[in-house]
Amino acid sequence: MICQITSIAEMRERVAEGRAAGASVGLVPTMGALHEGHLSLVRRARSENDLVLASIFVNPTQFGPSEDLEKYPRDLARDLALAEEAGVDMVFTPEPDEMYPAGFCTWIDVETIGERLCGASRPQHFRGVATVVAKLLDICRPDRAYFGMKDAQQLVVIRRMVADLNMSVEIVGCPTVREPDGLAMSSRNAYLTPEERAQAPALFRALKAAEGAVAGGVREATALKRLMEECLAGATLADIEYVEIVGFHDLRPLDPVEGQCLIALAVRFGETRLIDNTVVCA
Ligand code: PAJ
Repeated sequence: MICQITSIAEMRERVAEGRAAGASVGLVPTMGALHEGHLSLVRRARSENDLVLASIFVNPTQFGPSEDLEKYPRDLARDLALAEEAGVDMVFTPEPDEMYPAGFCTWIDVETIGERLCGASRPQHFRGVATVVAKLLDICRPDRAYFGMKDAQQLVVIRRMVADLNMSVEIVGCPTVREPDGLAMSSRNAYLTPEERAQAPALFRALKAAEGAVAGGVREATALKRLMEECLAGATLADIEYVEIVGFHDLRPLDPVEGQCLIALAVRFGETRLIDNTVVCA
């Protein structure tokens, strides 16, 4: 039976019991509305650890004032059933007051890396992510924590934080899980109208076109970006926020592209913001 824990003190105690019994611990942090992308992280954690923890916490500090915190999809009963089926032993579901009591004022700011790409339009987002992930890592003390490549910048920010703060946890990056038509799975896909959903695979097609061009020898960033913008132009309901080609570890813009590159884009369909990316070696 899956065990649901809401208090930090109890979570610490239960993990300490597991550790005392010699168990290795894996953590999958989530904001719930679980889908196959999240469950792929859980299965990976299940295959590599004795005790598998997941957190479900819609972290208010990573949402901007005009973002979707209120309407973010929440269905705890469904999430618990899916988490249990995928092999989670314990789910940590704190209330916002438990994580951010009155007087809270300590933040982790991963500078520069957190300001690029999505950081440009979501200025406090990665501060909120880094802070909550640091707290979750401290509360759960996992040997390994699992993150999806779908949110590549988040993965890079967390790896940087863990290195900079000498945290003793292994950060495991896991491949993006997609719908059959290529759209990356995301809790936010539920916001799309049928017309927007039909156009959304343009993101994946644009990334594939860029991958193909790099494989064919194109190295000029502007040419690659133009190619992606042309693919996205077919999605008449889409507004491009950014199309970028950056170094995978520092997220610095590359032109010409060389080495391990992250090709990343963010597109808005109405109020819904979708991101996707691919990593290529040039
Ligand atoms: P959330 O969006 O719920 O995602 C939780 C984890 O699932 C993240 O590591 C994310 O990259 C991964 N994920 C989401 N969609 C995926 C997909 N299609 N394929 C593979 N992995 C996927 O990311 C967050 O929550 C939050 O920022 C969090 C890290 C929990 C901090 O609040």
